[in-house]
Amino acid sequence: MKLGILGSGKGSNFAAILEAIRNGELHAAVALAVSDVPGSGILRLAEEAGVPTLILHEPRYRTRLSPRVEEQLVDALRAAGVDLVVLAGYMRIVKSPLLDAFPRRIINIHPSLLPSFRGISAWEQALAAGVATAGCTVHYVDAEIDTGEILAQAEVPVLPGDTAESLHARIQAEEHRLYPEVIRRLAMETRP
Ligand code: GRF
Repeated sequence: MKLGILGSGKGSNFAAILEAIRNGELHAAVALAVSDVPGSGILRLAEEAGVPTLILHEPRYRTRLSPRVEEQLVDALRAAGVDLVVLAGYMRIVKSPLLDAFPRRIINIHPSLLPSFRGISAWEQALAAGVATAGCTVHYVDAEIDTGEILAQAEVPVLPGDTAESLHARIQAEEHRLYPEVIRRLAMETRP
């Protein structure tokens, strides 16, 4: 299975996916790493790993790409032979060019137990709500934000004295275990 990774940030989930491929747990290859943020950690990681990169720099918009640039992204993913689009901290809303090109083949990881706490800084929302259990969710991407069909979830406890940082770190540790595992499952299911 060929993966196309999209991210805007530090890329720790991408690093976990690369590690799972390297150690033989995940039979997949990263065909393309894409970022809308020049200089982001995810691009540096891709360059170190010898993964082809694409930078989509469109500062005119903050929350999405223009249809024209999203078409360019689709072309690049297709040219790289990507089977599964993996959002790993990608901070723009996916619109119809990409959704239509990869139906049920775009997944995302979100730092909450969806449907609770959609949107940004979900761990802060969980902390503010005083829940005893937080976690992360891997889901298919649809036209709404953090609403697609859920593939898997992992729980972590919220501990006394937790800060936003400590809770986020605990959730991310679970993300790094869960995301490669779900991709592995999808790769097995789609194997001819
Ligand atoms: C993760 O916490 C993920 O849940 C959210 O964005 C963050 C990306 O972190 N969608 P990283 O760039 O993979 O470190």
